[in-house]
Amino acid sequence: MPFGKIGQTLSALEIFDLVRTDLAKVEREIGLESVASVEAINYINQYLQSGGGKRLRPILVLLSGRLFGEVNPGLIRMAAVVEMIHTATLVHDDVIDLAKTRRGRPSINVVWGNHTSVLAGDWLYMQAFQIALRERHFPTLDLLINLTQMMVEGELLQLERVGKIGVTEADYMELIDRKTASLFSACARLGAISVGAGEAVEARLGEYAWNLGIAFQLVDDILDFTSREKILGKPVGNDLREGKVTLPLIYALETADAEERKLVETVLTDGNYDQVPFSKILHILNRHHGIERAQERAESFTGKARAIIAEFPESPYQRALAAVTDLVTARDH
Ligand code: IPE
Ligand code: IPE
Ligand code: MG
Ligand code: MG
Repeated sequence: MPFGKIGQTLSALEIFDLVRTDLAKVEREIGLESVASVEAINYINQYLQSGGGKRLRPILVLLSGRLFGEVNPGLIRMAAVVEMIHTATLVHDDVIDLAKTRRGRPSINVVWGNHTSVLAGDWLYMQAFQIALRERHFPTLDLLINLTQMMVEGELLQLERVGKIGVTEADYMELIDRKTASLFSACARLGAISVGAGEAVEARLGEYAWNLGIAFQLVDDILDFTSREKILGKPVGNDLREGKVTLPLIYALETADAEERKLVETVLTDGNYDQVPFSKILHILNRHHGIERAQERAESFTGKARAIIAEFPESPYQRALAAVTDLVTARDH
């Protein structure tokens, strides 16, 4: 499906075509590097790798690298590294969130239990660093370690706020900056670093991807209300059930009356929709334009991302990076 103005922007398939060969190498790299001397890790890694996923982060690394240079083994390795870090965070995230499904299948914690999942996530993190270490490039390791700590801090901050109705927009932005946008930014930077693009370019591409990442999480949080489990591959209405107040709800609560607030609070404390059905929450969101406003906010971030990428010399990769912004806001999963 084409997005935006035909002839100027690329479709998802065209973007994918640009990196298809490189991405196959990334998959191979991940497969080769996901072998441990313990069977459980091998089963889990196979399950994870065959379970789909959009591979958006490695695609970002590849497009960012290709924007300024040729593909090289370091670029492929970095793309594998970010996907492995992403996967490790998801494995741990599903333990924390008590998630039942991921990528349309039972999540690792459901199949193997919490204990094994935590250790498998640890193994994946370390394997990602092991691969990164092969570059013998300290700035890369510095970036990856800062990033991982940042993401863990994001998840910790989120835990502190679970069940709290008074989360502000600023709190929320701080959180998604850490847990999601930081990884997106790192992907673009790593792509630039791998082809020796120079610091100025690296920083600007990082800003592009940061804006993209913020929009991506905003849309993830919108889809949690508006999508269906079959399409999303994970349950809907889950954030509120888990005690997370995300931006659509933060906006709606600004103008909600006392009774509506009480209904939201009930779901937050109960951790289920037994007393207050999900449809009731959707009604509150619609009445106060929570989804609409959050979507506009997401689009303002992709707008910034697009403006930054427009500064770069025109090429198929530059157009692809511009088109990714449309995919993020128009996506359904
Ligand atoms: C899920 O990321 C975690 C968030 C940052 C919302 P994705 O939606 O990219 O997950 P996969 O890799 O495609 O499953
Ligand atoms: C994103 O948060 C998870 C990480 C960045 C680790 P969510 O908790 O919203 O992600 P999903 O919805 O479970 O994929
Ligand atoms: Mg989660
Ligand atoms: Mg989510």
